[in-house]
Amino acid sequence: MFSRYKKTSDAPAKPAPAAVVASATPAAARAAAPEKRPAVQMRPAPGAIGRPAAEAVAVDKEQKRKDRLMELKVELHKKLLENLNLAALESASEANLKAEIAAIVAEALDEMSVALNKDDRVALNQELYDEVMGLGPLETLLKDESVNDILVNGPKRIFIERAGKLTLTDITFKDERHLLRIIDKIVSAVGRRVDESNPYCDARLADGSRFNCMVPPVAVDGSLVSIRKFKKEKLGVSDLVKFGAFTEEMAAYLQAAVSTRLNVIVSGGTGSGKTTTLNALSSFIDNTERVLTIEDTAELQLQQIHVGRMESRPPNVEGKGAVTQRDCLRNALRMRPDRIIVGETRGEEVIDMLQAMNTGHDGSMTTIHANSARDAVSRLENMIAMAGIEMPLKAVRSQISSAVNLVVQASRLQDGSRRMTSITEITGMEGEVISMQEIFRYERLGLAGDGKIIGRFNATGVRSHYSERFRQWGFDLPASIYEPIA
Ligand SMILES: Nc1ncnc2c1ncn2[C@@H]1O[C@H](COP(=O)(O)OP(=O)(O)OP(=O)(O)O)[C@@H](O)[C@H]1O
Ligand SMILES: [Mg+2]
Repeated sequence: MFSRYKKTSDAPAKPAPAAVVASATPAAARAAAPEKRPAVQMRPAPGAIGRPAAEAVAVDKEQKRKDRLMELKVELHKKLLENLNLAALESASEANLKAEIAAIVAEALDEMSVALNKDDRVALNQELYDEVMGLGPLETLLKDESVNDILVNGPKRIFIERAGKLTLTDITFKDERHLLRIIDKIVSAVGRRVDESNPYCDARLADGSRFNCMVPPVAVDGSLVSIRKFKKEKLGVSDLVKFGAFTEEMAAYLQAAVSTRLNVIVSGGTGSGKTTTLNALSSFIDNTERVLTIEDTAELQLQQIHVGRMESRPPNVEGKGAVTQRDCLRNALRMRPDRIIVGETRGEEVIDMLQAMNTGHDGSMTTIHANSARDAVSRLENMIAMAGIEMPLKAVRSQISSAVNLVVQASRLQDGSRRMTSITEITGMEGEVISMQEIFRYERLGLAGDGKIIGRFNATGVRSHYSERFRQWGFDLPASIYEPIA
């Protein structure tokens, strides 16, 4: 039944490389420790509180060892910056640079009479390389393919999201200055600056990851950094079916909906998988169509050949030169698009998006922050009101109901799994109210012992409003896909 969709990727998720955590022999670390203890008070390791005394002592020792190693790293970093030919760094190959760093580190350790075993030395060299060439402590997390999000709450707390679950790592920055230096490295690479008067910034890392930071004093307990990792291998429809995000029947329905050019909104909360779903749905677009994408941070990776990508731009330091999503969208309408895809509709561009959907750019798609299909429609109404468009509510609703055909709800459930919890069609207006019908939904049946949610996808028993259209376009979906399981 579900054979027409294009598979974007079959690649299995790569295993996570082991995190490189600095370690050194206690004797070596002691020898390397400067006389003064660091001013920063380290937090106890997670779970240390309430443990038996011997265990608490061991945890404390381990923490001290880490502190000392951090001091050693800072010292070596300083020496490296003094000794490396910074001008030559750009052209040096990774292998040459690593060899040079290893040589300088070996000499410095000798001078400091610090002995490290081979593993510790390799780990230290890698960390120093990351410090000089990359983003310091963030580098191991950026390389770890299983990490989706990196969230920094001040220098001593770095959280990661893996498989939908947030956990605290034992990776830290030395102090706020260290964190600020890395932030500065990132934002200056995109020609921006953050400081007291300009305390936040969006940027894209060299690998395409989405980056946002906010620095003190607006960030109260130290700089806040959020990174959404860029995935080279985007999840395709078949991957999402395999991961249980939706069923083959739902995929067949979505294929018909996208191919027959219904206008689709993917709705969901933060990190619920909206962009991933949008990207996967776009694989159903025919290769002959001209698709234009508009995003604040270019994340979509469409597989078609005829794709024009646009990225909005914030104002520069003088507050000039901004190019908004709305500017891009208005311009896109003059670029003969067959379909327009807006990464996320969140402001005044809503009106142009709805107009585009209403005026011959069928099959356009966007995402919106909302918790249900009804909520998504209310969000659209609010955005129109906030854009200063004075239109009676009924007219606004009629505009929405004729523009949007389908709302696909993405959700991250409490066990971390991401699922398409509802597919709802917008069928028109009944009086002042937009009429909708849900076609598929996720039903929660209970909770397993391990905290996993037990549930299933089910049809609601309602046949698609667009069945005839699907049929005319050659998508004869069997009636059975609309039949609910009892
Ligand atoms: N069904 C899924 N199974 C496993 N991982 C998923 C699934 N859907 C999305 N992800 C992963 O979850 C992360 C967040 O997804 P995505 O960027 O699509 O969310 P979003 O709703 O667009 O977030 P935001 O609100 O921040 O824009 C990504 O790293 C993505 O690879
Ligand atoms: Mg997104």
